[in-house]
Amino acid sequence: MTYLDNAATSFPKPEQVYVAMDRFARHSLANPGRSGHKMALESEHALSNARHRLNRFFNGRNPDRWAFTLNCTDALNMAFKGLLNDGDHVITTDLEHNSVSRPLVALAQAGRITLTRIPSDAGGTIDPEAIRAAIGPKTRLVAMTHASNVLGTVQPVADVGRIVRERDLLFLVDAAQTAGVLPIDVQTACIDLLAFPGHKSLFGPTGTGALYVGSRVTLRPWREGGTGGDSLTPTQPTEFPHHLEGGTPNVLGVAGLVAGLDFVEERGVEAIRKHEVDLCDRLWSALAEMPGFELFGHADSSRRVGALSFRCEVLPAPELAGLLDEKFDIAVRPGLHCAPYIHKALGTAPDGLVRVSPGPFTTNADIDHLIDALTQITGM
Ligand code: ALA
Repeated sequence: MTYLDNAATSFPKPEQVYVAMDRFARHSLANPGRSGHKMALESEHALSNARHRLNRFFNGRNPDRWAFTLNCTDALNMAFKGLLNDGDHVITTDLEHNSVSRPLVALAQAGRITLTRIPSDAGGTIDPEAIRAAIGPKTRLVAMTHASNVLGTVQPVADVGRIVRERDLLFLVDAAQTAGVLPIDVQTACIDLLAFPGHKSLFGPTGTGALYVGSRVTLRPWREGGTGGDSLTPTQPTEFPHHLEGGTPNVLGVAGLVAGLDFVEERGVEAIRKHEVDLCDRLWSALAEMPGFELFGHADSSRRVGALSFRCEVLPAPELAGLLDEKFDIAVRPGLHCAPYIHKALGTAPDGLVRVSPGPFTTNADIDHLIDALTQITGM
């Protein structure tokens, strides 16, 4: 299988992730924070270590403010449902994934909040000044992606963060496509809430993610339950991280996530991004020369992460991806990528586009195999 769907989830994981998870599952997989025996303490230590690692990697202010979640969607729901009050105004963008859009639109449709969606430019970038212009007296939150999961375009989050902080509002960043491939400093970029999956470019397994909750934010807990200690308190303890972590956490997944983070730190964020973007450039150059293909997003690769979407004149995206899978053993993601607003803006709904997203183990030969397959399919 030539796997070119790393924007959905990374595969393969670095070998050290498999090794760490196997070792943890065999020797340390007790219930963290419960029971107090040696193995439970070891398991709790793994979680605490992971929080310290994330806090250092993203330059947070406090390791306890990193709550583990099931995925990025879980983290985003925890943020929106824990933060927003009736009457709040929220600003978001047309680049968002449904994990941002659906909870916000549902709150707006219920009459709880008002929502402004800022359109991106033709290449897929948000103008920070458009965000500034949309701020009103009821605005509480600006919520936006760090990079489009369709176009790979990187958004000016530090500029938006400065505007949001100047106005004393809160700033949420969805780092689903950037955590592990772009440097993120939550303090410098004035990010109050950072949501990300563990299973994409941090190379943990599925079922992992986290939400960083900065010191300016108070959240109601979205998931309440046992936390191991403080059992006499009738409602959820207010101390972080337990405030947001009712129920047994996915400590096995977190052990894998830390091994993934080791890999990212060893290889270097910029080296990983460059490798993936160079592979996208190789594909871009080839498709630009082939008649019948239309490429989307900025051509300038310094403005992208490693995801590239295109359309083929002769075959709708789902059929093209089906042929790539069945006849050439190539995995890509076709369709709307759970991001309907940008596809509507691009005029690519309902069939969508074919998205190619290489990872650190993808080679030039893999991309050439895809180019060859597309040449054969389209008979060019
Ligand atoms: N959000 C993931 C993607 O873009 C699953 O494919």
